[in-house]
Amino acid sequence: MVEQLSLNNYKQKIADLYNQRSQTYDDTNWHLQICRRLLEYSQVSSGHQILDIGTGTGHLVLEASRIVGNSGRVIGVDISAGMLEQARDKAEALDLGNVEFQLADAELLNFPANSFDRILCANTFPWLENKAATLRLWHQFLKPDGLIGVHTPAETAYVGYVVFREVLARYGVMLEPSNRLGTFEECRKLFLSACFEAVEIKTEQHGSYLSLDKAKAAWGGNSFPTPGQPEKPLSRLSEAQLEQAKAEFEAELEARQTEQGVWDDVTTWYVIGRKPKNSILHSS
Ligand SMILES: C[S@@+](CC[C@H](N)C(=O)[O-])C[C@H]1O[C@@H](n2cnc3c(N)ncnc32)[C@H](O)[C@@H]1O
Repeated sequence: MVEQLSLNNYKQKIADLYNQRSQTYDDTNWHLQICRRLLEYSQVSSGHQILDIGTGTGHLVLEASRIVGNSGRVIGVDISAGMLEQARDKAEALDLGNVEFQLADAELLNFPANSFDRILCANTFPWLENKAATLRLWHQFLKPDGLIGVHTPAETAYVGYVVFREVLARYGVMLEPSNRLGTFEECRKLFLSACFEAVEIKTEQHGSYLSLDKAKAAWGGNSFPTPGQPEKPLSRLSEAQLEQAKAEFEAELEARQTEQGVWDDVTTWYVIGRKPKNSILHSS
């Protein structure tokens, strides 16, 4: 029997998206690289109890399993049964005895307080609906002095979307930043407000050149579901505004074109925070 979660509309769309992507998700090496870096920055070591949130096809869990060894344990959670199936198949093929996967919503997890040495989340945090409440929830599961490590793109990531957002703002249509977190400072504040300390954001430059046509294909905005945002932002504009806004969007991208194409920034952030040693449990 296929496991099922009862999800709201928005989350069901995400689960469906990743169920569809699950067969080809591992075709690129990019996500694996990100997971390795996150493990390094969050100083995962032998014996650690790890929770990997939005585990996908299990890149981070499989790497962490090797590092924590037999005295450690790694649990991966995800809302996509398709992604988890890939993860479980890989763990089974490697005969890993210290890993476990659970079909669960990151925002409604239920673990005993002070269970994990590390809570990690790669390429998933922007999807969460209520980030502040979710961080407070995860804080409870972390042991005092434990680390949280979250990877997310920077707000400057994805040129087509960044330019689209800037142009629409001129017409009074406000869209979420690409990382749905905002600036470096806003991100730090979010983690501090969930009672993490020593919050540090390490950045890494990623990106590639796009053809002008591909960059222009971002007109219309995210094809992904985005919480708290109109699904069809262009429907807010009149015919005349639409024409003008599109011309501005295209001109902006044309101005960014070089011989190699349009630079598509995918600057990456690794947010690392610590649960204070003398932390008192607080309710979310
Ligand atoms: C881009 S993939 C990242 C997978 C993996 N962490 C990696 O870096 O390869 C995002 C994953 O987050 C999962 N996801 C999104 N929202 C979630 C939620 N609320 N709870 C649990 N998983 C979620 C998706 O199903 C998907 O597998």
